Amino acid sequence: MITKIINSNDLSAAADCLKCGGTVVFPTETVYGLGADALNPDAIKKIYKAKGRPSDNPLIIHISSESDISKLSNNITPGAKLLMENFWPGPLTLIVKKSSIVPDEVTAGLDTVAVRFPSNDIACRLIKQSGVFVAAPSANLSGSPSPTVCEDVIFDLNGRVDYIIDGTGCEIGLESTVVDVSGDEVIILRPGGITLEMIQSIIPSAKLDGGLIDDSTTPKCPGLKYRHYAPRAKVVVVQGNKNNVKKYISSQIKLNSKIGVMTYGGGEYADADVVIDVGSTMEEYAHNLFSALRMFDKKSVDFIYAEFCVEDGMGVAVRNRLYKASGHNIIEV
Ligand code: TXA
Ligand code: MG
Repeated sequence: MITKIINSNDLSAAADCLKCGGTVVFPTETVYGLGADALNPDAIKKIYKAKGRPSDNPLIIHISSESDISKLSNNITPGAKLLMENFWPGPLTLIVKKSSIVPDEVTAGLDTVAVRFPSNDIACRLIKQSGVFVAAPSANLSGSPSPTVCEDVIFDLNGRVDYIIDGTGCEIGLESTVVDVSGDEVIILRPGGITLEMIQSIIPSAKLDGGLIDDSTTPKCPGLKYRHYAPRAKVVVVQGNKNNVKKYISSQIKLNSKIGVMTYGGGEYADADVVIDVGSTMEEYAHNLFSALRMFDKKSVDFIYAEFCVEDGMGVAVRNRLYKASGHNIIEV
């Protein structure tokens, strides 16, 4: 398959491709998505094939106007309405009961469906112009970090999709917050750019899924049970007091050969082979995390030591992705 890489000025060919059952990668405000017509089972199968994704992991359907959710669900709960009013368009995915038009291929047989109205202008124009609802997982090969720049999409998916739109976006850098609003309780299944605190400011009883707090419970978001976001290099999260974190990582550099360090708030590691500064706020950490993990692989390091300290807000989403990328290899110092 030959992949056409286009800019975002004229989206008509890519929109037509979606309408005709093809696959198109597009930027969003979170990460790049690999889209296909959500109501066309054959098109959906192409997504799973291009990513090498297990078919029991359901997809998010992207819409370009709030009212479209009522075609995908006949049961919009009061919690869903409140969150839509406050956070759409944006990095928030709502899990609602699905209507009969949503094929099982999208929901992996569940009776609920994930719906998101993105704020990215290119994403919205593409969905509108195509005239279809667009199912889209992150545009990476299954298991790899989600792509936040076009170069990383091309690395993973060139030759596996019809179109890649090289555009601007991915300001947030981590995937959307997934919230289950299909029942009476409002539960965050995957943390993201819309934080627990933001959701609780609208719905005080909202809470994090138990699987996000206690690692021994199975997460309700099917995708979170897989190995994920993982670069080829082995990731070690070193967390705690800043001085202890730096002391510990420095001591490890002397023991191992090719070492990368992901520093949070700037650290000096003269002996490390590659040092990437991901910033000094959790928002910056989120924005830079996935591209940094991929950069370490490009530089062929064997170990990535990631500086971390536990924080609320965006820190919850960063922690979730980092812990998974490391396979829960966490050193407390
Ligand atoms: O920011 C994002 O959400 C990006 C962009 C492209 O929109 N998309 C994305 O999709 O991250 P994906 O497929 O990589 O992650 C979707 C997550 C998975 O963990 C999946 O298991 C979960 O949403 N999910 C989808 N449908 C669900 C459902 N009905 N119930 C529970 N979880 C669901
Ligand atoms: Mg993904």
